[in-house]
Amino acid sequence: MQFSELETNKIRNDFPILNRKINGNPFVYLDNASTTQKPSSVIDTIVKYYSFYNSNIHRAVYDIAEEATHAYELTRQKVCKFINANSPQEIIFTRNTTEAINLVAYAWGRKNIQNGDIIILSEQEHHSNIVPWQILAKEKNAKIKYLKIDETGNINLNELESYLDEDNGIKLISLCHMSNALGNIIPIDKIIDMAHAYSIPVFVDGAQSVPHLTTDVTSLDCDFLAFSAHKMLGPTGVGILYGKKNILQEMDPFNCGGDMIKEVHKENTLFNDLPYKFEAGTPNIADVIGFSSALDYLNEIGMDNIRKHEIELTKYAIEKMSEFKQLKLYGDINLQNRGGIISFNLGDIHPHDLATILNEHAIAIRSGHHCAQVLMEKLEVSATSRVSFYIYNTKDEINIFINALGKAIKLFQL
Ligand code: ALA
Repeated sequence: MQFSELETNKIRNDFPILNRKINGNPFVYLDNASTTQKPSSVIDTIVKYYSFYNSNIHRAVYDIAEEATHAYELTRQKVCKFINANSPQEIIFTRNTTEAINLVAYAWGRKNIQNGDIIILSEQEHHSNIVPWQILAKEKNAKIKYLKIDETGNINLNELESYLDEDNGIKLISLCHMSNALGNIIPIDKIIDMAHAYSIPVFVDGAQSVPHLTTDVTSLDCDFLAFSAHKMLGPTGVGILYGKKNILQEMDPFNCGGDMIKEVHKENTLFNDLPYKFEAGTPNIADVIGFSSALDYLNEIGMDNIRKHEIELTKYAIEKMSEFKQLKLYGDINLQNRGGIISFNLGDIHPHDLATILNEHAIAIRSGHHCAQVLMEKLEVSATSRVSFYIYNTKDEINIFINALGKAIKLFQL
């Protein structure tokens, strides 16, 4: 399937929110790194669950409980296939990527990180891939080392090699595959190979990469991967933790309560098998089931087509944005090394002021530190403006954005 403008227009019809007008202007949504819009099929699946078979799962024997359990587990199987994991037992549903990272920092970290150990992160991590490790490191008297980001936003593999070579205390590497602030894609496959040569496990924060790139955990051989349904057309409140089965089996539970047990006695408890050991309490059944339709939608379009479309939009937007001399672009100029995320600053206009002006044109962009303050410090800015694309965005929308940028430049007399 070729991803033409015509098909994009057809795709747009599947997203009710994209028909909205705000103050009489067509709504232009360019904040997809934050969350994506939902197609009718996802919304309908959730409505159907609540209307026809709303029930708890893994417990009762009546018909609708069986239907709900089946639909919930079917999503797990689809996720397994989507990222090419070996078994649905390796797929744990959480609330979001953040909770998936916290789960591993708690359940794996507290068992495997000891006094003096080292955890490697990079300067472009989201706060959710820093704070859980910082807390763990403080508790265990461990250390965090940050891989530096160069002026184009890329990490230096030689620096990683020297860390690996000189220090045998490294116990984990945890990195985002694609930066949420810069859109940079790191060579995660090479990093995993390098780490494994020293028997060091790698956690991949795939919140920004899984929705936009084909992901194959079997060929990547990552030890953990986390991502969120809501950044890939699915509902909010559903995160996914992939972990290698042997590693998950060795981990203690994170949250404890119903469904994560086989037997509970006064003095002890026998924990459930994977993946249920990590899914305590009634989960977000409706939204996990809704996510199933999002995966169907993405599979129908094809992840390679999504990537092509985003490269085309990003190329077009960067070309147009570069025409404004007052505008500073961040990140790599090589499109193969970045996703559909563009961070920028316009003179010394605060990004929140620019976002407010663009909002008057019904254009939604993100402004701020993007939960990446370590990166902002490195870039020596307090914030950036950020546009981010997905399957339904068009060049026409980029033209509307560019036109509004031009007006903002005049307004601010830059
Ligand atoms: N992490 C999301 C973002 O980058 C919320 O906007």
